[in-house]
Amino acid sequence: MTLILRGLVVHTPKNPFRESGALEPFSDGAIAIQDGKIAAIGNHVQVAERFPQAKTQDCRGGILLPGLIDTHVHYPQTRVIGAMGYTLLDWLEQRTLPLEARLSDNKFARELALEFVRLLLSNGTTTALVFGSHFQGATANLFGAAEDVGLRIIAGQVCSDRKLLPELHTTPEHSYHEQKMLIHRFHNKGKLRYAVTPRFSLSASEGLLEVCQTLMDEHSDVHFTTHINENTDEIRTVAELFPWARDYLETYDRFGLVTNRSVFAHNVHPSELELARLAEAQAAIAHCPSSNAFIGSGIFPMKRHLQHGIRFGLGSDVGGGTGFCLLKEGLTAYIAQRYAEDGFPLTPAHLLYLATRAGAEILGLENTVGDLSVGKAADIIYVRPEEKSTLEVHFRHLDSVEQLLGSLFTLHGEAKVEKVWLDGQEAILN
Ligand code: GUN
Ligand code: ZN
Repeated sequence: MTLILRGLVVHTPKNPFRESGALEPFSDGAIAIQDGKIAAIGNHVQVAERFPQAKTQDCRGGILLPGLIDTHVHYPQTRVIGAMGYTLLDWLEQRTLPLEARLSDNKFARELALEFVRLLLSNGTTTALVFGSHFQGATANLFGAAEDVGLRIIAGQVCSDRKLLPELHTTPEHSYHEQKMLIHRFHNKGKLRYAVTPRFSLSASEGLLEVCQTLMDEHSDVHFTTHINENTDEIRTVAELFPWARDYLETYDRFGLVTNRSVFAHNVHPSELELARLAEAQAAIAHCPSSNAFIGSGIFPMKRHLQHGIRFGLGSDVGGGTGFCLLKEGLTAYIAQRYAEDGFPLTPAHLLYLATRAGAEILGLENTVGDLSVGKAADIIYVRPEEKSTLEVHFRHLDSVEQLLGSLFTLHGEAKVEKVWLDGQEAILN
């Protein structure tokens, strides 16, 4: 059976940081879906002619976009969102880590996992790189919940063996065995992938980082993710803990953890040497603009990353960030770059690319998701303006699709994710 979605369709099959004309809009457009994949995209008349037997869903009145891709989000932290008055290290100590310790209770962890995957979906996120829990059971619950709803996630059991809460600490040996079991059970199972996830080198001994290296060596296609250069106090502490390291990046690089499979969250305060090394290794960054602002970490030096040719996608960083909505992250990135002394002038095309295809690229999923090209998985969202809203006025008086996209990001709070298709199947949102 073929399904056609008819409406205003927009995606970015090319990189607008590199090429002009990256935004591909179809005002009266259509997407044809067969066997969970995109079979055609174009003007409605032409697509409908090619598939005369297809069933059509009318999605006019809103906008059809590729499913959004969150490259950095913490499963245990949904209930931390909105903790005001902290910076990174006291936010962790006072608000975040005590909650994360409660995930030793499997029943509580299951409740949070279900809540988390539902919130990703209802915000239009269909693929995510997720920081799991320090607990093996809780991380297994996350994979299970994602599989149940059909989300594409890359996730791992977070590991730390110092400087957090004792309940959250593991040992290198124990972590190795627990992670091995999770890799065997979940990596490459359907749409699930595993990521080796030391919390940050501040909370990881050299022995634990060696274990991460071993796991990356033993499994050539697992991912790696962690935090870097987020906050100046954090950076100072890392320098004290690793006196031999030239910089923060070297604390990972010494253990072979800076590769094209690595995604580092934040990188707000990098040195030129670190940027050069990230570029050389083809490692990527999860840019988390609302978190950088909310917990006062600083402004992401986007231009410097672009000058070095370093790839980056958007991350909500829930719960340091201000919510799951990646449209809001796009707007916050835009505003932050306007504030920055040497900010990059982002356009609506950049924002859509960052919320979709850029994420797919840094997660190695660019041949599977990220845009609506023929052959990709039909992960699609239908976003509508709320009735009587400012955004609805903008939709009624459409000047150009690019302008409308600018309105959508700016007025994201008035946009409702009405429907989500995962591999062409409509998901239940609640
Ligand atoms: N660095 C180490 N842990 C965390 C975390 O949970 N959130 C953020 N934003 N930074 C971190
Ligand atoms: Zn984070």
